[in-house]
Amino acid sequence: CIRDSPETAPPTTNDGGAAVEYALPATDGIDDPYFPGLGNGGYDVEHYLIDLRADPAGNTIDGTTTIEAVATGDHSSFTLDLRGLEVATVTVDGAAVDYTRIGEELRVEAPLVAGESVTVAVAYGGTPEPVDDLGDGWQTGWIRNAEGTFVASEPGGARTWFPANDHPSDKATFTFRITAPAGMTAVANGELTDTIASESGDIYVWEMADPMATYLATVVVAPLERVEHPPAAGVVLRDYLPPSYRGEAPDSFQKTGAMIEYFDDLFGPYPFDQYGHVIVSGFPAALETQTMTVFGDAWFGSPFAEFVVAHELGHQWFGNHVSPTTWKDIWLNEGFATYAELLWVEHLYGPVAMQAEAASRYDDLRSTSHALAGDPQPLRLFGISVYQRGALTLHALRDGVGDEVFFEILRTWVSRFGGRDGSTDDFIALAEELSGADLGDLFESWLFTPELPPLPSP
Ligand code: TRP
Ligand code: ZN
Repeated sequence: CIRDSPETAPPTTNDGGAAVEYALPATDGIDDPYFPGLGNGGYDVEHYLIDLRADPAGNTIDGTTTIEAVATGDHSSFTLDLRGLEVATVTVDGAAVDYTRIGEELRVEAPLVAGESVTVAVAYGGTPEPVDDLGDGWQTGWIRNAEGTFVASEPGGARTWFPANDHPSDKATFTFRITAPAGMTAVANGELTDTIASESGDIYVWEMADPMATYLATVVVAPLERVEHPPAAGVVLRDYLPPSYRGEAPDSFQKTGAMIEYFDDLFGPYPFDQYGHVIVSGFPAALETQTMTVFGDAWFGSPFAEFVVAHELGHQWFGNHVSPTTWKDIWLNEGFATYAELLWVEHLYGPVAMQAEAASRYDDLRSTSHALAGDPQPLRLFGISVYQRGALTLHALRDGVGDEVFFEILRTWVSRFGGRDGSTDDFIALAEELSGADLGDLFESWLFTPELPPLPSP
């Protein structure tokens, strides 16, 4: 849900004496402290229909994204985030309208009326250009690799391949209709509901029926095979693997069912209907794209692969179901997913092994100067502090309030803020509410103070 812009001009009168409201354009940002250009004011998106033909060989896309939104204020025009690509037409409720491209904003010259729905369809295409949002050289968005193309967008890559309200505080459901060339499969989030033969290739229809942040939308177009695993805790488990795997998922993926069952107990029910991974090459990372983690094959052979599987699964509760209110709140994603790794160690090997793992990460932090986990700035958004000091913040909280209250806090965080977004202040307030303790000093020292507090040992 998006805050509305307060910019409405005072009422004035026309010749006939009747009051006329002169609404101003909606704002082209939502005041994210790190990425002021991401997101837009004036409306709340409910659904995206992303209908694209993908040509990995030519590295192009073309098609239409249709956005159903509800206006949150009266405005003379509004904007979408879109970077690069060619726009062919924009329609609002079926009628062609004027539009202007201003940097990475697509301004739609159509009014918004508070409370009313609008359907905006943007026909577009071209070669998507990945973007380096953090300024560290790491590219996000629609990316070409040796097999085809994949999408990894955190934080701001969604706008490189579809027009969006590109901010995690405006979540929406998604339908994908992706046409893949012969020999390739199109994978996206949620459930594959249909495969339709067409002259330009098979159309893969995917439905993401639960609210999802734009950066978690993914499309992978490559030669891929679907492998099913036995469901766990009622969740459909499926992976998509390149043909060289011969239908055999890597060992670390075989643990997913056991992990889901364990995390279900600790965090509350897994929030979606399905889970799994899609393996991509040329990607030394993994991203927790909702229900369909994009997993770089560089992890296999590394002893960390199983940690990464637990981490990306943990994100489905922390980051995906509960989204960060702003990008400054990123430790609520990464610290929690990293703590899920430690919890998996505890489950397999017991609390002594878990504490040893926590101590090793504490030593890593002690030997590096690092950012504030609670205010890392864009350059360190995915740095060691957000991950490891963020995780140890939870370890310290557990030490402070005891196991019973600690896991009650995690489960309540998920049930109360799931499907929407929560901030660091929301989390601190919840922890204080459920523990009855004043935890201001604990969070201040772990999240907002350069000096590292002593290693917690619950
Ligand atoms: N959220 C990812 C993780 O820790 C890290 C990440 C951030 C990322 N931005 C990315 C991965 C862009 C791939 C692409 O699991
Ligand atoms: Zn993560």
